[in-house]
Amino acid sequence: MQLSNLINGLPPYHFADAKKKIADRIAAGVDVISLSMGDPDLPAPQAVVERLCAEMQKPENHRYPEYRGVYALHEAIAQWFEQRFQVRLQPERDILPLLGSKEGLAYAGASVLNAGDIALVPDPYYPVYITAATTVGAQVYLLPLTAHNAYLPDLASIPVDVLAKARVLWLNYPNNPTAACANRSFFEQAVAFARHHHLVIIHDMAYAEVYFDDFRPMSILQIPGASEVAVELHSLSKTYNMAGFRVGMLVGNPALVDAVGRLKSNIDSGMFRPVQYAAIEALNLPVSWIQQRNVLYQKRRDMLVEGCHAVGMQVELPKAGLYVWAHVPHGFTSRDFATWLFDKTGVFVTPGSNFGAAGEGYVRISLTAPDERIATALQRMKDALSL
Ligand SMILES: Cc1ncc(COP(=O)(O)O)c(C=O)c1O
Repeated sequence: MQLSNLINGLPPYHFADAKKKIADRIAAGVDVISLSMGDPDLPAPQAVVERLCAEMQKPENHRYPEYRGVYALHEAIAQWFEQRFQVRLQPERDILPLLGSKEGLAYAGASVLNAGDIALVPDPYYPVYITAATTVGAQVYLLPLTAHNAYLPDLASIPVDVLAKARVLWLNYPNNPTAACANRSFFEQAVAFARHHHLVIIHDMAYAEVYFDDFRPMSILQIPGASEVAVELHSLSKTYNMAGFRVGMLVGNPALVDAVGRLKSNIDSGMFRPVQYAAIEALNLPVSWIQQRNVLYQKRRDMLVEGCHAVGMQVELPKAGLYVWAHVPHGFTSRDFATWLFDKTGVFVTPGSNFGAAGEGYVRISLTAPDERIATALQRMKDALSL
């Protein structure tokens, strides 16, 4: 069959491939430890599961849902956002519930970019930022995130001719895969830059609620005037261990929120109502639920950071997010090391270069496995590296 140029230009999604590799190895009898995807291994809150089951029993919830979500979900998101970030959003105008934040990333890009425009994308990147540009015929200009620039894009380095065609600046803090965080002064600079150059900022904050010690990631919407140029994506996937439920949200600039709603409603038919009510249950949980869960992740983070140091892999202590961004041992490329490690130990990590050229020299190790599996993985790494 003759497929479209769009499909022919689209690479297979990395994690779909990775899942198959893991399944094949397990079928061959290998005890695989996957520290690869950011797919929470901990269960969704009990209150969420109970509400989902209760709402499933009501036949009226089996019908087509509202395209843009029930008002109660908009309200719950607004309240959650205000409590967390001290920013008041108008429930219907400034908020759009999504089937996970991933679709919102693609739709937000498509709602702003035209063929021939340029999207400014940090490198390394979450692959959807690229897809969002290439599927509409836009070009990508990569902004390397390196240890030298504290993993923040150097906006001043963007050439004038690129800026002339640029329409979108993608940001993602806490960052996947580097685990870097941005501070207020960076967000202020980014908002001023976007205003000056007529850019739209799409800030992906999927990891906002996995934080450690006293650190709390900030929303770009906390910068005065940011909603004139920015939207932000949040997700219940990592926040409440609800990745399979598919609940996310787009918040911020009302025109772009409305545009994504228009695009989405022409493509899908909204979120299953019981899932919407389950999401409200999650958003109403006390913040202590998140804090207690983060204590578990923090322990894993500490084990992984210490374990990496013990095998000579340099790594910084993440302040937030689900990953450790580790230098590969000397003499390996990212991909060679990840392949070698998987073959030799059954431990599956993601090559940094999968997220773009600037990720070369690193692997991304996820915190989404129980302590004892992380301990086993680290012991296997130690043995494999003959230490
Ligand atoms: C940076 C980033 N953004 C967005 C997402 C999408 O999350 P979801 O669609 O589950 O909300 C992910 C998932 O891993 C991610 O890593």
